Amino acid sequence: MKKFMKGLLATTMVFAMMTSLVGCGGGSEEPAATDEPAAETLIMATNAAFPPYEFYEGDAIVGIDAEVGKAIADKLGMGFTIEDMEFDAIIPAVTSGKASFGMAGMTVTEERLNSVDFSTSYAKGVQVVIVAEGSAITTVDDLFADGASHVIGVQTGTTGDLYSTWDLEEAGLATVERFNKGADAVLALTQGKVDCVVIDNEPAKEFVAANEGLVILDTEYAVEDYAICFAKDSELTAQVNSALEELIADGTVQAIIDKYISAE
Ligand code: ARG
Repeated sequence: MKKFMKGLLATTMVFAMMTSLVGCGGGSEEPAATDEPAAETLIMATNAAFPPYEFYEGDAIVGIDAEVGKAIADKLGMGFTIEDMEFDAIIPAVTSGKASFGMAGMTVTEERLNSVDFSTSYAKGVQVVIVAEGSAITTVDDLFADGASHVIGVQTGTTGDLYSTWDLEEAGLATVERFNKGADAVLALTQGKVDCVVIDNEPAKEFVAANEGLVILDTEYAVEDYAICFAKDSELTAQVNSALEELIADGTVQAIIDKYISAE
């Protein structure tokens, strides 16, 4: 399987290079006739437990990233499939060539830039803190207070995990409990097993709406940019990025966001 995908990617890259050469030269040469399917398929790696960016509706993965990803593939005349995996498997899937790109409400960070390239950002995210109503934690600063010792729930490998670990756990101010899904961290909060959950604002709103007795603190933990990640120096980056930029410029991305996120 892995081998097959690599072969596919290599073929694809040669094809992409040929296409761009033909494009640049305005040349008269027809591409050689072939029995291969005309278009390559973009494989988007995601973690479909992150509404409204990616989540299941029945058997289908829907959401902002799913629709923007499909719109990019359509614009490029390519096929499109989504591979659902754990969040922390996305970057390895991309760097190993198993996926064409990763799109998962993924924040651009310095750390991640060491292993992947990112597209232009298509959305903002905010790390927020969810607590039980009446919690002693009323602001983000409470997490940083001298002598604090909270149990913080996060989704493994997310920026909520990284920041809580670096800022709080390593400073001896908290213990971080890591869950495969944000929803599992929120469940633990409803059961009193963690004191708060650090997670992105839009999924936070959905999880709070789906559970009694939870609130999102007014203060923000961090403001971030979401972008698509690619293997470093991938041939695909420029193509996908310019398609994305066109979809941002012509309002398609905003229309998709508005479909999933109602303005308050
Ligand atoms: N924005 C955060 C990050 O990049 C969380 C993203 C989680 N996405 C998901 N599909 N589960 O780490």
